[in-house]
Amino acid sequence: MIERTLCILKPDAVSAGNTGNIIAHIQKEGFRILGLKMVALSGKAASKFYEVHKERPFYAGLVEFMSSGACVPIALEKENAIAEWRRVIGSTDPAEAADGTIRKLYAKNKGENAVHGSDSVENGLREIAFFFTEAELADLA
Ligand code: RTP
Ligand code: MG
Repeated sequence: MIERTLCILKPDAVSAGNTGNIIAHIQKEGFRILGLKMVALSGKAASKFYEVHKERPFYAGLVEFMSSGACVPIALEKENAIAEWRRVIGSTDPAEAADGTIRKLYAKNKGENAVHGSDSVENGLREIAFFFTEAELADLA
């Protein structure tokens, strides 16, 4: 099934100058880019985006990190996009991520881990709508 997922290039990846390399990696893996922008998340917006984790011990640090610099949200489409994108990014902790995955290549540690990926079809659509209006998604071809 053709699915959509939300990628975010997190502040560590953007500030380290890895934006172009990661976009090239996304395209090499055959994802269709529907929308892409650079944003600076406020603490309030980052709290809202990750509110599913609000009871977790890492939540405050995660919100601080995600609002510490520019992020690049990218709406992606592909057959089985949710699982495919999670395969391409690798495990949350780069120390456990497989060779060749984006987190293995670019992540600093379990918190500052270069990229986000949606965890379900439903959350993918909700997360894409968090950053993009319908008119901003290039759903033309
Ligand atoms: P994401 O949602 O960003 O794609 O990451 P994920 O599914 O692989 O991991 P998740 O459990 O959803 O955690 C969300 C993000 O919170 C930070 N985190 N830090 N220090 C820690 O133990 C810890 N655990 C999670 C990471 O930035 C993780 O991607
Ligand atoms: Mg997650």
